[in-house]
Amino acid sequence: MTEIAEEIAQVRFTVESARARRQSIGFVPTMGALHAGHARLIERCREEARFTVVSLFVNPTQFGPNEDFTSYPRTWDEDLCVASAAGADLLFRPSVEAMYPSGRLSTYVEPGSLSTVLEGRSRPGHFRGVATVVLKLFQIVQPDFAYFGEKDYQQLLVIRRIVDDLNVPVAVRSVPTVREPDGLAMSSRNRYLSPAERQAALVLSRALGAARDVVLRGEHDANRIRQTLAETVKYEQLAELDYAEVADAGSLEPLVEIETGRRAVALLAVRIGGTRLIDNAILME
Ligand code: PAJ
Repeated sequence: MTEIAEEIAQVRFTVESARARRQSIGFVPTMGALHAGHARLIERCREEARFTVVSLFVNPTQFGPNEDFTSYPRTWDEDLCVASAAGADLLFRPSVEAMYPSGRLSTYVEPGSLSTVLEGRSRPGHFRGVATVVLKLFQIVQPDFAYFGEKDYQQLLVIRRIVDDLNVPVAVRSVPTVREPDGLAMSSRNRYLSPAERQAALVLSRALGAARDVVLRGEHDANRIRQTLAETVKYEQLAELDYAEVADAGSLEPLVEIETGRRAVALLAVRIGGTRLIDNAILME
C-alpha cells in the first residue's frame, strides 16, 4: 500500500517510523506526469532501500517566466498508479504553499559554474530553483539514497556537486536513460508533441547516434562532432537547435579533442514546435 502525504509533518513522522524499524530510506524526487523512466528510478530505489519515498511537485522556482509551469502536465490519478505499481511506500505531494509558505524564500542554493552553461545558459535561474527545491526535499525526507536520471545529465552533476559541497549525508545514484523502442528518451514533455512532432523528435537520438558513430570511426575533433550533431538536427524541418555540445563528462567543460581516458559527453537541446527537449550520450568512457 502506498501512503499519500501532503504535509511535511506527515512525511517526517512516516520516515521517522520507518527509521525506528531500522529501515533505510530511498528517495526519488519528480515533478509527476510519471512515465517508465520515473518508474525505473523507483524500482532501482526499491532494490537498494527498504523504504521508498517519491515526491511529486511541479516546482515553480525552476521555470522561467515564459516557460511551461502552468501547462506542465498534472496527471495525479495515473501518477499514483505508476508510483504504487513501481513500489513507492510513501508519495509526497506538497502544495506550492507548503514548500514556499510566504510565496518566496529568502535563502537559495546557487550551484556555481556547472549551472551556468548549457541548460543554465538557456534557462537562467533554472538550476538555482532545482538545487533549492532538491535540498529542501532532502531536508524533509532525509534519505540515505537519492535517485536521479542520466536523461537530465547536467542536473545530475549539479546535484552531486551540491551534495559534495554542502556535506549532505545522502548517496546520489544515477539511472540510465529509459527510451521508447524507437530511441526517443522518455520525458513528461513528450506529451506536448503532435504526431508529426513526435516523429521529428527522433532527431535527438538520431543525432547522438550519428555522433557516436563518427567517434567510433576515429573522429576525435570535437568541433567536427558538434557539426555532425548540428547538421543532423538541421535536416529535420520541424526541429530548431538550441545547443549541441561535446564536453568533459565531469566538469562540462567544452572539449577540443576527444581523448582516451577522458570521459566525454554529447549534450543536445532542440526545440520541436513549442516543445524543448534534451538528450545526451556518453561518447568516450
Ligand atoms: P522530472 O523531470 O519529473 O524528473 C524526475 C527524475 O526522473 C529526474 O531525476 C530525471 O532525470 C528522471 N528521468 C526523467 N526522464 C527519464 C528517463 N527517460 N530515463 C531515466 N530517468 C528519467 O527532474 C525533475 O523532475 C526536477 O528537476 C526535480 C529533480 C524533481 C526537481 O524539481
